[in-house]
Amino acid sequence: MIPLFKVAMSEKASALVGEVLDSGYIGQGAKVDEFERALAKRLDNPRILTVNSATSGLHLALHLVATESGRDGEVLATALTCTATNWPILANGMRIRWVDTDPATLNVDLDDLARKITPTTRAIVLVHWGGYPVDLDRLNRVLDQAERVHGVRPRVIEDCADAWGATYKGVPLGGHGNISVYSFQAIKHLTTGDGGLIVLPDDELLSRARMLRWYGIDRDGGGARFKNDIPEYGFKFNMNDINAAIGLANLETVDGLVARHRENAAFYDGELAGVDGVELTERASDRNPSFWYYSLKVDNRDAFVLRMKEAGIATSEVHERNDVYGATQGCKAVLPGLDGVAGRHIAIPVGWWVSDDDRAHIAKTIKGGW
Ligand SMILES: Cc1ncc(COP(=O)(O)O)c(C=O)c1O
Repeated sequence: MIPLFKVAMSEKASALVGEVLDSGYIGQGAKVDEFERALAKRLDNPRILTVNSATSGLHLALHLVATESGRDGEVLATALTCTATNWPILANGMRIRWVDTDPATLNVDLDDLARKITPTTRAIVLVHWGGYPVDLDRLNRVLDQAERVHGVRPRVIEDCADAWGATYKGVPLGGHGNISVYSFQAIKHLTTGDGGLIVLPDDELLSRARMLRWYGIDRDGGGARFKNDIPEYGFKFNMNDINAAIGLANLETVDGLVARHRENAAFYDGELAGVDGVELTERASDRNPSFWYYSLKVDNRDAFVLRMKEAGIATSEVHERNDVYGATQGCKAVLPGLDGVAGRHIAIPVGWWVSDDDRAHIAKTIKGGW
């Protein structure tokens, strides 16, 4: 079976991890610092902090917003994503208001978003679906307009979990003035085993986030740290040196892997355009997606999945729309865009492990019909 996801582990990882294990120090220390310096360089952005998962990073992001602007009001969010995007909203005691899905991109529908911003909107949480960047300039224009009309400019939290390596107008995600969160979970482009990264838009938020990821304590405070005042409670969201060592090893090889995801995606774009029963997602020239998976929309999805399985090709919807779960029944909405794609979208293997022969087989199978 050609898998949909695979763990990418650099050959250097076990030696680097071994050094940490033998060092007598495995908590958050020198390796985390080194990893953070390397990540800051890679994203060309000094305002970054590692965390122990994207879910923690998103929880921290929502906490920052909630403590800044209040837990009343609502958070505009997209239902087509991992539950990890939205559960931190609920975990922070905030209310979700669903925004529709743009059928062209499977990202948030920015027209619907513009309609739903009100003076009580506390934040906007969005995902770059499969690593395809949201149109961030257009989003900024929507926010400019909201500020003019309602006098509010809600913070935006970008879930970049699937988007390592993706750029918008040449700038890596995280560099567009919002709070952004990456995932280094097991099967992501860049893995640390489990882990994540939060990118902050200003120094004040960065320094609060740095304290809050570790109980609210200033690790650089000196002396007996626990004797110093803790002005506000925080969390246990820090990364440790073992995970950072894995990340440092994998950071050296990840660019080549992302490049192969893109090459395979370009191959499918060429092969599958115009195929009966298949609709491709949007490609805009101002974005360079990371293609964690390759999403298409197909007619008769169950039969498609079965045909692919027979041909030895794994497929998946990857995420279920979050508005169907019991946990979100308090926030029902009419979402015609999502209704139109929820039964049609499907991801096919596109990653670095997909060989030229594999991708030719996948394209031929799809062209053969189902
Ligand atoms: C879109 C999205 N957001 C968040 C997450 C959660 O990431 P983590 O496992 O690092 O918490 C995932 C994980 O797969 C994801 O796909």
